[in-house]
Amino acid sequence: MRERVALIGAGPSGMSLLRALALAEDAGAAVPEVVAFERQDDWGGQWNLDWRTGADRHGEPVHSAMYRDLWINGPKECMEYPDYPFDAHFGRAVSSYLPREAMRDYIVGRVAEVAGRIRPEIRFATAVRWVQPLEGGGFAVTSEDLVTREAVTERFDRVVVATGHFHTPHLPSWPGVETFPGQVQHAHDYRSPEPYTGRRVLVVGSSYSGQDLALQLHRAGAAHVTTAYRARPQDIAWPAGMDEAPEVQGFDGAEVTFADGSTAEYDAVLLCTGYRHHYPFLPRELALAGPNLLAPFGLWKGVVWHADPRVLYLGATQQLFTLTLLDAQAFFARDVLLGRVPVPDEEERRADMDAWFERMTRIDGPPAALAYQGAYIQDLSSHTDCPEVDVEAVARTFLEMRDARIEDVRTFRDRRHRSTVTGTLAAAHPVPWMDRPDDSLEEYLHRFPA
Ligand SMILES: Cc1cc2nc3c(=O)[nH]c(=O)nc-3n(C[C@H](O)[C@H](O)[C@H](O)COP(=O)(O)OP(=O)(O)OC[C@H]3O[C@@H](n4cnc5c(N)ncnc54)[C@H](O)[C@@H]3O)c2cc1C
Ligand SMILES: NC(=O)c1ccc[n+]([C@@H]2O[C@H](COP(=O)([O-])OP(=O)(O)OC[C@H]3O[C@@H](n4cnc5c(N)ncnc54)[C@H](OP(=O)(O)O)[C@@H]3O)[C@@H](O)[C@H]2O)c1
Repeated sequence: MRERVALIGAGPSGMSLLRALALAEDAGAAVPEVVAFERQDDWGGQWNLDWRTGADRHGEPVHSAMYRDLWINGPKECMEYPDYPFDAHFGRAVSSYLPREAMRDYIVGRVAEVAGRIRPEIRFATAVRWVQPLEGGGFAVTSEDLVTREAVTERFDRVVVATGHFHTPHLPSWPGVETFPGQVQHAHDYRSPEPYTGRRVLVVGSSYSGQDLALQLHRAGAAHVTTAYRARPQDIAWPAGMDEAPEVQGFDGAEVTFADGSTAEYDAVLLCTGYRHHYPFLPRELALAGPNLLAPFGLWKGVVWHADPRVLYLGATQQLFTLTLLDAQAFFARDVLLGRVPVPDEEERRADMDAWFERMTRIDGPPAALAYQGAYIQDLSSHTDCPEVDVEAVARTFLEMRDARIEDVRTFRDRRHRSTVTGTLAAAHPVPWMDRPDDSLEEYLHRFPA
């Protein structure tokens, strides 16, 4: 009998898996029956902006953390599917940095050729509520149709978890924070900068959200923006109106004390403190936990749940390469499902996981982190026919971007990079990023006549 696979989540990872399965079927493979469950009304995952915060239109937790003025934070040349160049998608050369809607358009365009077949495999507005391992083998998956409110439980042989891990905020606390008189908001609930205009803002957390939101607020006229780091200061020459402070120790009303003993007053606090792995539909023994890591705990090859290899995860690793990484994982997962990639015994899996974990602990900076994830993508791809990514060239482009950001955080998004796939040099956007309004796809494409 045909195996049944439950895929949970139809963001870029889930879409990549459905596409990879369709391609294998076209090439003559016998593929399992896949039912995909997607809580949102459309595919695209994080790339579906929701103006709501907290609860969505069905009363479910809002998934996306994206905001109105979001542009991609690395050059598109670092996110390019090797078999789907940006030039081909847009029919012209465009800038290295894209606004959110243009990036979503590209991700959806990549699956267009098989969309008519794979979309019907997705049950939209349907949330998976529980996955129960069965004694006789397989899983009972309970899902709820969010429109009819009907719940059904069905049997599947395997489960693929592709629900992302940037939806449930990590919310640390500090002594006295409840005495702070202004707004304390997590980045997941940030949609636009206007509420911060003219204010002194403390941004806590110095990773991608911390960097971008500090800049967004500065650009939109915040009176002053301080970014508080935890591990280490950022390599950024802050412009006037922005600065950096060490870890927050506590609050006394509007006054904040930092780890070096210094204090300052703020009107608002924006927490860019990251996210938690959160899988409320999985029993504890199947649920990934821990911080956002390049080698997450308990996943063989970052994909197969060691404790129960019938469960696979996509997109659970920390993302430097993003779309191409998700695609490499999807091809690997597909070939595990098809039996083309045999899952080795427990001892061999453990040895492999330990080796990658140990290698991760030796990473001493961005070049080493990129080399690590590049090697990981190559390792996955060596088992499949996933389109090959030139990981060294992409890493070089990332590092060019990093140097540009260190030089001037306000202008790095104006730089042009060269595609590692087609060799095309990106077009220049006629307006500097600091002066651009939120660009819709239509407005954006007007800037680059075909
Ligand atoms: C603010 C922000 C900015 C980003 N910017 C960039 C960028 O510039 N470039 C880049 O390449 N990447 C960026 N990313 C990374 C982004 O997460 C990936 O590009 C990509 O969306 C990950 O895809 P995914 O499918 O793994 O997860 P997601 O996109 O998170 O999709 C997961 C899907 O699972 C569904 N789901 C969750 N729970 C359930 C359930 N119980 N039942 C059914 N369905 C469920 C969700 O509705 C969602 O559609 C950004 C992320 C964030 C948070
Ligand atoms: N396109 C864009 O412009 C854009 C914008 C935002 C986000 N994103 C994407 O969104 C994803 C998530 O990024 P993220 O930055 O939200 O999460 P993240 O990369 O996981 O970073 C979380 C940060 O929170 C810090 N932190 C946690 N607890 C803290 C505490 N108590 N005090 C101070 N700092 C604390 C961590 O510090 P340590 O370093 O010390 O652990 C880390 O720097 C990434 O994929 C990113 O690319 C993209």
